Amino acid sequence: MERTFVLLKPDAVQRGLVGEILQRFERKGLKIVGLKMLQVDPQLAQMHYAAHRGKPFYQRLIRFITAGPSVALALEGEQAVHRVRLLVGVTDPNESQPGTIRGDLSAHVTLNLIHASDSPETAQQELALFFKPDELFSYTRCDEPWLKIAE
Ligand code: RTP
Ligand code: MG
Repeated sequence: MERTFVLLKPDAVQRGLVGEILQRFERKGLKIVGLKMLQVDPQLAQMHYAAHRGKPFYQRLIRFITAGPSVALALEGEQAVHRVRLLVGVTDPNESQPGTIRGDLSAHVTLNLIHASDSPETAQQELALFFKPDELFSYTRCDEPWLKIAE
């Protein structure tokens, strides 16, 4: 089992799409193991997006991500990092496939609703950046025993 970090960006909150997006992950079978609302401050934004410092869109990105409350999410499942990235869709709004969160719900390269970790290593770093250890949970979902029928 793997864990990944997801941030529902300020546009997801402003557009009332938090429930819609959460539902897609839950229905896929990914387990919510952490969930909280927060406003990303400039310091956290700079740490989270350190890899993009100096790029032409960096200032715009920091301004956007700090502009209002976001929802942070920890998801667990088999190949969670990869599966969540597939559900999210690619960054370029001209290329994001219908059926994905970005493909269905966003047409903007910056206001693209959602961040998801791009590797297991960055997932661990980002989970530690956004969640305290006691904000992450381990539990058995009631559909898990049933799904073992296929093992
Ligand atoms: P994210 O990190 O937010 O999950 O998105 P991503 O992996 O799909 O995209 P990444 O390349 O990591 O870029 C981070 C965020 O920066 C904004 N961006 N703007 N050309 C642009 O104006 C541009 N390129 C990227 C997007 O908000 C993207 O999600
Ligand atoms: Mg990224």
